[in-house]
Amino acid sequence: MSRKPWVGGNWKCNGTKASVDALIKTLNESDVPDKTKCDVIVAPSHIFLTHVLSTINPRFVVSAQDCNQFGNGAYTGSHSPQMLKDCGITTVIIGHSERRDVFRETDEEIGQKIALALKEGFDVVPCIGEHLAERQAGKTNDVLFPQMKAIAANVKPEEWSRVVIAYEPVWAIGTGVVATPQQAQDTQKDLREWIAKNVSEEVAKSVRIVYGGSVNGANSSELSSQPDVDGFLVGGASLKPEFATIVKNIA
Ligand code: G3H
Repeated sequence: MSRKPWVGGNWKCNGTKASVDALIKTLNESDVPDKTKCDVIVAPSHIFLTHVLSTINPRFVVSAQDCNQFGNGAYTGSHSPQMLKDCGITTVIIGHSERRDVFRETDEEIGQKIALALKEGFDVVPCIGEHLAERQAGKTNDVLFPQMKAIAANVKPEEWSRVVIAYEPVWAIGTGVVATPQQAQDTQKDLREWIAKNVSEEVAKSVRIVYGGSVNGANSSELSSQPDVDGFLVGGASLKPEFATIVKNIA
């Protein structure tokens, strides 16, 4: 694989001050390979971001799980890219399926968030994924390609180096039902071909596409051996010491 591996830990809406400190300690003491071998990000809840940033080994990049599409102003409860940047955050996950399904975020809103975050200098991690019924109906790409289109419409040519696409089949998230290595490979190959056709060959070759959905220390090796799987966005297992195993398996 010519692209540098990328592994993200999405802590979602989990943690207490004590459990976050324990996780930071585990990560700081882990022997994950250095930044030249693999990019590793952790994405705590917004309320823990600055604490994590000030206590975690700088080998780990600290990411937000979301940002708004408006900037600062009268937007109660939201976090602008500008204030995240002011707090030292450099990366943001956008359009996770939980944002799409639970908070009803649309492709249009997700596109606006991506555009603003990129304009503010962030690395962005847009997420896409199909539901089980859509896969079973053979409509996976009919769902993924429009999601990709809404993302790509908001990325300028020079910004693609700051984008990591997370392919997360919704049926695999938090279910223990991981995509087979072949399913992940086939889908991510299709996504890369879509990018080649609709963005550029160069971006298709260089952009990292990572898989998410029930990744753990035991299944990550085989998944990462697939040529179009450049890493992982990990949920549940990122709250455990096995997150370091996942990184070591791909780095
Ligand atoms: O962002 C991470 C994904 O939602 C995967 O979560 O590893 O718990 O299935 P999971």
